[in-house]
Amino acid sequence: MFYDEVMNAVRLIRERIVCRPKVAVILGSGLGGVADSLEEKEYLPYAEIPGFPPSAVSGHAARFVFGRMNEKPVVVMQGRFHYYEGLSMRQITFPIYVLRMLGVESLVVTNACGGINPGFAPGDLMLITDHINFSGNNPLIGENDERFGPRFPDMTQVYHPALQAVTRQTAKSLGIALQEGVYAFFTGPCYETAAEIRAIHTLGADAVGMSTVPEATVANYLGMKVLGVSCITNMGTGIAKGAHSHEEVLAAAETSGKTLCRLLEKVLAEISLEEGEEA
Ligand code: HPA
Repeated sequence: MFYDEVMNAVRLIRERIVCRPKVAVILGSGLGGVADSLEEKEYLPYAEIPGFPPSAVSGHAARFVFGRMNEKPVVVMQGRFHYYEGLSMRQITFPIYVLRMLGVESLVVTNACGGINPGFAPGDLMLITDHINFSGNNPLIGENDERFGPRFPDMTQVYHPALQAVTRQTAKSLGIALQEGVYAFFTGPCYETAAEIRAIHTLGADAVGMSTVPEATVANYLGMKVLGVSCITNMGTGIAKGAHSHEEVLAAAETSGKTLCRLLEKVLAEISLEEGEEA
C-alpha cells in the first residue's frame, strides 16, 4: 500500500538522521549550491531510501541534505525527480509525502525556467503566484488515501499568501529585484516550440518549466504551505534569438542561484520564526 511505502521511507530517515525539520527546500537544476551554507550537515542519498525512484539527471546530486540554516533545522532536496525521466507522477512526488509524514509543514520549491513575460530577462528571480498544469496529467490521479488528504483538494491558494508576502518583503530589504507571475508546467524533456510559447503567453503564463507543479499540487493536497521561486535562466523559445541548451540553463542557474541563496537564507529564517520553532 502506498501509505506503508511512505512510512517505510520515513522510518529509515528517522533512524539515520538526527535533524527534525519543519521546513523543506527543493533545489532546481544548477541551484544545488544553496545547500552549501547549511551547518551540521547530514546527507542521505535518495538511492538509500526505500521507495525512492532511480534518477540520473545531470546537474542534480540526488540526495537530501539535512542541516541548520540560521540555527533552524531544514532539509534540502539537492535534485528532484522529473516526469520526463519516464517515472510516474506518483513516483516523482513520493518525496513530498515522505517529507510531510516526517513533520515538514512548509515547502519551498525552486526551479530553473524559461521566461515568457516580456518584462523578464535571464537572471531574474520570479515569485510563483499561481500555476497552470499543461501536462494533461495530475499526481493525485488514482485511489485516494484520506490519511493524506481529500479526494478533491481546493487549489485557490496553492502558493501561500503569507509566504509570498514574507518573500516580497525580504527581497525588498535585501535590494533583490523579484518578478512575480504564473508558472506553466510542460512535461519536457524537449523545450517548447515558439508556437507553444506564444499560446501559453496568451493564456496567462509568465514562465515555463518542467517541474514544480506536481510537487506543489501534492504539497497543497497534504496541507503544506508552499512557496515557489523560479530562476529565469533563458527566455522562452522564439522570444530571444538562438536555440536552448541544458548547459546554458545550468550556467545561468548557477549565477542567479547565488542571489536566490541570499534570499532563501533570510526567508527561511522568517518562515521558521513564523512556525514558532525551537532552534
Ligand atoms: N522551458 C522549459 N523548461 C526550462 C526552460 C525553458 O525555456 N528553461 C529552463 N527550464
